[in-house]
Amino acid sequence: MPAIIVVGTQWGDEGKGRVVDRLAADAGVVARFNGGENAGHTVIAQGHELKLHLVPSGILNQAVTCLVGAGVVVNPARLIAEMDELAESGVDVSPGHLKLSAAAHVVLPTHQALDGAGEEARGGRAIGTTRRGNGPAYADKAARTNLRIGDMVDPERFADQVADRVRAHNQLLKEVLGSEPSDARQIAASYGSYARRLSPHIVDGSALLAERMAAGETVLCEGAQGLLLDLDHGTYPYVTSSSTVAGGALTGLGFGPRQVSQVIGVAKAYTTRVGEGPFPTELTGKVGDRIRETGSEYGATTGRPRRCGWLDVVILRYAARINGLDQIALTKLDVLSGLERLKVAVAYEHDGERIEYFPAEAGIDALSRWNPVYEELPGWEEDLTAARSLADLPAAARDYIARIEDWVGVPITFISVGPERAQAIVVSK
Ligand code: IMP
Repeated sequence: MPAIIVVGTQWGDEGKGRVVDRLAADAGVVARFNGGENAGHTVIAQGHELKLHLVPSGILNQAVTCLVGAGVVVNPARLIAEMDELAESGVDVSPGHLKLSAAAHVVLPTHQALDGAGEEARGGRAIGTTRRGNGPAYADKAARTNLRIGDMVDPERFADQVADRVRAHNQLLKEVLGSEPSDARQIAASYGSYARRLSPHIVDGSALLAERMAAGETVLCEGAQGLLLDLDHGTYPYVTSSSTVAGGALTGLGFGPRQVSQVIGVAKAYTTRVGEGPFPTELTGKVGDRIRETGSEYGATTGRPRRCGWLDVVILRYAARINGLDQIALTKLDVLSGLERLKVAVAYEHDGERIEYFPAEAGIDALSRWNPVYEELPGWEEDLTAARSLADLPAAARDYIARIEDWVGVPITFISVGPERAQAIVVSK
């Protein structure tokens, strides 16, 4: 059973890239299954800090094949810019190393314009999207009008198709949203050249995975965003437009559930959210500001300050249920050092009623009525960044970890205590 799935358990930004980077050494393929350039993670390549949005996190590992899967929406300009940056840092981004599924979808500049215009039109009810065109590209996919990466194999025809799509978007932009139309001919010309550049990377993604799995290789499936941004199971409508949960790896890459050996949920030691929508344990005062500054909680894609709050194990229990988590990787534990008391939401209550599950299906109005029920734990003063085993942690930090495991019912097998690759604790269970 060769597939390992790595997913976010909160609202994204949990540090999934970090966990994928660690596991990539034992994998044959690292495959991204959802999202687009709205996702962002930082990798350090030959001493340079790079922000990746589309290229899978396994790219720094030469022995691993990287695949952008069918469930992803690709802005080719952004992908090529990332490939160029990586190549400048000496990373191999040749077609032998980086492959694109023909079934992945294309993001056009007009998708981005529609994203921005849509947000403006929503006014006070804006979602707070990254305005990278993801929502409109997935909407076109569902409407069966979008272009796919496979269409790029014939660059001239592709350019014509792009021009047609841009003209259709222009009508919407101009007549419905009152925005500026885009230059269809100019966009078509650049997309023709992107197609020439990217064509050699195009493969049948699910066939590639089947072949590698049959050969006994491990496929590491990399999710973008997190559970509560999932289109079906998140805090709708304040969600992204793709499937961010473990099931999304199967549909976004094209293999069956029996291939899955492990599902790893990545959870930050506290909670963050970017964009609008309910957030039960949000801290709007000094403690939240302190977590934001210590944890550098600013969006990798948009630079927006992230909303910060206490850990919420109601959410983690929900993540365990929806994803069938086998393990949790807990990240950024070091950020909590110096806080005298730590609060953890263990249930929600409203009008004397207490629930222990996350009421996602009840809708956001109902969700905003529930108040978190906290348990308080002692904090710790010590700097954790040099810890390499559980024994190196202060007793209060060990207790924090043990209590989370009890509350969620899933073992924590990896703990990060700093941004460097080596600043981590691996726990064998
Ligand atoms: P979109 O995915 O750009 O449409 O944005 C929808 C919602 O998902 C917004 O609240 C974004 O802030 C959020 N979002 C999208 N991608 C990420 C991510 O990688 N990390 C955190 N939030 C994200």
